[in-house]
Amino acid sequence: MTQPKKLFIKTYGCQMNVYDSERMSEALGGEGYVTTDRPDDADMILLNTCHIRERAAEKVYSELGRYKSLKAEKPDLKIGVAGCVAQAEGEEIMRRQPMVDLVVGPQSYHRLPELAARAGAGAKALDTEFPEEDKFAHLAARPKAARGPTAFLTVQEGCDKFCAFCVVPYTRGAEVSRPADRVIAEAHDLVKRGVREITLLGQNVNAYHGHEGGLAGLIHALAEIDGLLRIRFTTSHPNDMDDALIAAHGECEKLMPYLHLPVQAGSDRILKRMNRQHTAEEYVRLIERLRAARPDLHLSGDFIVGFPEETEEDFQATLDLIDEVRYGSAFSFKYSTRPGTPAAERDQLSEEVKDERLQRLQALLVKHQRAAQDAMVGREVGVLFEKPGRFAGQMVGKSDHLHAVHVAADGIAPGDLRRVRIVESGPNSLMGELVTL
Ligand code: SAH
Ligand code: SF4
Ligand code: F3S
Repeated sequence: MTQPKKLFIKTYGCQMNVYDSERMSEALGGEGYVTTDRPDDADMILLNTCHIRERAAEKVYSELGRYKSLKAEKPDLKIGVAGCVAQAEGEEIMRRQPMVDLVVGPQSYHRLPELAARAGAGAKALDTEFPEEDKFAHLAARPKAARGPTAFLTVQEGCDKFCAFCVVPYTRGAEVSRPADRVIAEAHDLVKRGVREITLLGQNVNAYHGHEGGLAGLIHALAEIDGLLRIRFTTSHPNDMDDALIAAHGECEKLMPYLHLPVQAGSDRILKRMNRQHTAEEYVRLIERLRAARPDLHLSGDFIVGFPEETEEDFQATLDLIDEVRYGSAFSFKYSTRPGTPAAERDQLSEEVKDERLQRLQALLVKHQRAAQDAMVGREVGVLFEKPGRFAGQMVGKSDHLHAVHVAADGIAPGDLRRVRIVESGPNSLMGELVTL
C-alpha cells in the first residue's frame, strides 16, 4: 500500500481563511492527502495568506524563507501559496521565491486538486482567476468525520464597498452569496457531525441575498434545525443592517447577543475620506435600535488609527464614539498603506503619531472591555462547553456574549449547553457555577 501524502496548512488572516483551509484540506483529502501539524513531515506545505496590512503580507515571505532548507533536503516537497497574498501578488510570489510550486487565489480553490497534480508532476501552477461559478459547489463534499461543537460556515464572499484603505474588494472580488439550500444542507451536515453553534461568515455577511429576506431570512431558516443551538454571524457593514436583521436580534432565540459591527473611526470627515458611506451619528442611532431589539447585546468593533489626514480632533471623535457605544470587545490597528488603494496615495501620518494614538485607543477599549466583563458577575448566561479548561477538573466554553467561561467539570461534556451563574471576572475569562434546576 502506498503511504498517504501529508499536507501541512498554515492559516493567516480572518475566519474566512480558517473555513477555506478546512475546505482545502478536505478537497486534497480526496486526492490522498492527510493533514499533519509538522511542516518538516509534509509532502505539501500550503500557506493560506492575508494581505490586509503590510505586516501580514510580509509574514508570508519570511515563512517561505524558513522552508528553504526543508526543500533542499526534500526536493519532492511541494510549496503552495493560497489566500489573499496569492490573489494580490500572484506571479510576483514565484519571482521572489522560486521554490514556490503553486499559487492559488481564494476564488479558485475548486481547482486545487488539479493544480496540486500539476505541481506534483513538476510544473509550476498558478490560478488567480475570478470564475463565475460557485467554488464551494465544486469542492469535494465534506467528509463525515466528527466535529467539535462550533464551526464556521461561509455564506457570502467578496465586497463592493471599496473603503479607501482596504484590499479586500481586490483580493476577494465582488459580493456573491451562496444559495440558501446549499448553506442549509451544509448546516444540517455539520449538526449531524456534532456541531452545536454555527458562525455564518462573509466579508459583508449582512449583504447576503441568497435567501428571501436576506441574512435575517437565512438565520430564521437555520434556527429551524433541531440540534443547532446557536447562530452567530460576522462581519457586517453598518449600511447593510436592515430592519429584519435588527428585529431578528429580538425574535430569534438561537441568534446570540453579540454583534461585530466595525465603524473604523468616529470623525465624519475621516469616515467620508474612508468612503464608509455613513456618519458617526447614523452608526450610533443604529446601535440604539439594535439595543432596543436586544438590550443585553454586546458590541464589538474594528478601529483604524492614523488614517491619512487624521487630526488630533478627528482622533478625539473616535474616542468619544467609543465612550458612547461602550464596546464589549474590539480590534484596533494602525493604518497600513496598501498598494493600489486610494488612501495609499495621500499624505501619511508619522509612525510616532500612529503608535501614540493606538496606545490611547487601546487603553480606552480595554477599560470598556473589562467593565463589560466585570458586569457579567452575578448574571446567569448560557455556556456552550468546548474543552477541558486551564486547570485540572475544569471545562471551558463560550458564553452567549462570547466570553470564555471556566466551570468545575463535573458531569459536563464538550457540546453541552448549560446555564451558568458567573461568580468571578478574571483577566481574560470568567469563572462560573452550573445553575441546577
Ligand atoms: N469586511 C470587514 C473587515 C475587513 S478587514 C469589514 O468591513 O468590517 C478587517 C479589519 O482590518 C477592518 O475592519 C479594518 O479595521 C482593518 N483594516 C483593513 N484595511 C486596513 C489597513 N489598510 N490598515 C489598517 N487596518 C486595516
Ligand atoms: Fe474592506 Fe470596507 Fe469591504 Fe470591509 S467593507 S471588506 S473594510 S472595503
Ligand atoms: Fe486577510 Fe483576505 Fe481575510 S486580506 S482579513 S485573509 S479576506
